Amino acid sequence: MSRTAMGRFSQAFILFASCFSVAKSAGKELWPLQKFKSSSIQTPFMNVTKMGTAEPGFLFLTPRDIIRETGHPAIYSDDGQLIWQGPSGNYSALQPQMLNNEPVIAYWSGDVSRGFGFGGITIVNSSYDEIHRVTLDCKAENFVTIYDPMTFASCIDIHESEITDNGTILVTAVNVTEADLSAIGGPKDGWIQDALVYEIDIKTNEILFRWSAYEHIDQMPLRDVRAPLDGSGGNKTDPYGYPHLNSISKYGDSYLVSSRYMCSLFFIASNGSVTWHLHGQTGGDFELGLDTSFCYQHDARFKFQSDERVTISLHNNEHASFTGHTSLTTGMVLDVELQGSKRVTLKSRMWDSTEPVYAESQGSYQSLGNGHVLQQHGSTPKIEEYDENGTIVMRARFGYDKTMQTYRTYRYPWVGRPATKPDVVACLDGKNGKSTVYVSWNGATDVEYWKVYSGTEVKETAVRNGFETTILVDGLTSSDSVVVAAVGGVGDGMRSESVTVGQC
Ligand SMILES: *[C@@H]1O[C@H](CO)[C@@H](O)[C@H](O)[C@H]1NC(C)=O
Ligand SMILES: *[C@@H]1O[C@H](CO)[C@@H](O)[C@H](O)[C@H]1NC(C)=O
Ligand SMILES: *[C@@H]1O[C@H](CO)[C@@H](O)[C@H](O)[C@H]1NC(C)=O
Ligand SMILES: *[C@@H]1O[C@H](CO)[C@@H](O)[C@H](O)[C@H]1NC(C)=O
Ligand SMILES: *[C@@H]1O[C@H](CO)[C@@H](O)[C@H](O)[C@H]1NC(C)=O
Ligand SMILES: *[C@@H]1O[C@H](CO)[C@@H](O)[C@H](O)[C@H]1NC(C)=O
Ligand SMILES: *[C@@H]1O[C@H](CO)[C@@H](O)[C@H](O)[C@H]1NC(C)=O
Ligand SMILES: *[C@@H]1O[C@H](CO)[C@@H](O)[C@H](O)[C@H]1NC(C)=O
Repeated sequence: MSRTAMGRFSQAFILFASCFSVAKSAGKELWPLQKFKSSSIQTPFMNVTKMGTAEPGFLFLTPRDIIRETGHPAIYSDDGQLIWQGPSGNYSALQPQMLNNEPVIAYWSGDVSRGFGFGGITIVNSSYDEIHRVTLDCKAENFVTIYDPMTFASCIDIHESEITDNGTILVTAVNVTEADLSAIGGPKDGWIQDALVYEIDIKTNEILFRWSAYEHIDQMPLRDVRAPLDGSGGNKTDPYGYPHLNSISKYGDSYLVSSRYMCSLFFIASNGSVTWHLHGQTGGDFELGLDTSFCYQHDARFKFQSDERVTISLHNNEHASFTGHTSLTTGMVLDVELQGSKRVTLKSRMWDSTEPVYAESQGSYQSLGNGHVLQQHGSTPKIEEYDENGTIVMRARFGYDKTMQTYRTYRYPWVGRPATKPDVVACLDGKNGKSTVYVSWNGATDVEYWKVYSGTEVKETAVRNGFETTILVDGLTSSDSVVVAAVGGVGDGMRSESVTVGQC
């Protein structure tokens, strides 16, 4: 993705949003929301602290308000201001990517329950218009869900939306299947949440690759799972969480698959067989070196790959709902010798020693330019950026623990070209005779100024200031109407509808 037009972020500062409200719900303090006059959008206050220079780019996430039960796909700038918010619903696996040399955003939406879901992947272009919707036919694939007889329009799971260079997308799916659980003390006629990997052609929705963990259980046995049965697996509505896949990438013809509950990474050949298995507790096919163990991890990717060695980055939660919460959650980079010694060595590890995190679920790890890393902690609503030496340069919180979450967060450059017009509200203050004009443009990234017109006369010009810019204008009466035009950027000259000045 191009890194142009992105070098205008200020450094070390702490931002306090000017307009947020603090509310309480059943004794629990709710995280403040940013609210606006020109738009009905409400979004969590993003509390950004910078201790150094962060890499350029916007933050892409799917904040979900657990208390108010609403979520959105969203983009924020580094000053904590909202840039874009999509419709409300259940969202996950949002990732800005390139598709046929065009910048797009892919995200999952649908029905979600107990750590997995049934939905589809929406791909929007830089105008935020849907250009593709990737789905997986539940009936044709004979999916069995935990709900009976509930059916879904599409059976793609919440965990992945990775676009390849070949115009295909990697996704996961969960299929409730009968399985013999006696090896781990469960019933012989038990039930599991089998997890599948699909590679799907984005244009045609054609399935190009299908892989089921359970069909390879000889290579990924139940004894390697680190999730207790806890009475589950006895029936179809409470299937055991084997193997809980969360991130999938493709390298050449093979797939890197992360299994959270097996604390494992698998490298899968195109014929489906497991080429190697790195278990974060036992090593699997490898020898774990000092401080290289991991468990319940997310977002595992190769940073480097050769026939002899791979370098892997991941977000190591070290926690799940059934563990204690005493070990640190850290970002990890591991060197894995594929031949010879088969040793795993720790290359680097990062965490915020001032505000350590113990993340129960979800999270992401992204390698940025200049050796920087963006880490996000899922169920703990915090985002961190580290420099090349592992020193924290930015910390951002968008919720109290257990009030907000996002599955992942990524930083990318982005030029938004909203298909809508700027939104405007204007009102006259009876006391001082001045009018206030509020203007916002959901999704615009590079407006420099706003120009307020009354008829053909320019009444005021103001520098864009955050998601919504407040402009004081002299000499309007309540029967006047105004138009606000964007100046600068790709939407230069775009005008709002004409709005009549009301009373403040
Ligand atoms: C935002 O962060 C600052 C600096 O860490 C802190 O003083 C302030 O209390 C935070 N605000 C909220 C709402 O958490
Ligand atoms: C979100 O998921 C819940 C639980 O499955 C479902 O009831 C609800 O309809 C979903 N919402 C949307 C907008 O899809
Ligand atoms: C985005 O897609 C819509 C619908 O296909 C199209 O009208 C619009 O021109 C596209 N925007 C860009 C920037 O390509
Ligand atoms: C789901 O499981 C059922 C029952 O085991 C099986 O018939 C079906 O083929 C499976 N579907 C997929 C997509 O693996
Ligand atoms: C399924 O098993 C769970 C225990 O794991 C139990 O609570 C539930 O009632 C069972 N459901 C049915 C339909 O038997
Ligand atoms: C893209 O397709 C080519 C030709 O089929 C194949 O060799 C290559 O591995 C594919 N790359 C990815 C990332 O799927
Ligand atoms: C699958 O492919 C791998 C490597 O390409 C090969 O070693 C293995 O024998 C194949 N397995 C099967 C079952 O064909
Ligand atoms: C990282 O550490 C090296 C070696 O101490 C130093 O030269 C470099 O300036 C450091 N980088 C930053 C961004 O502080």
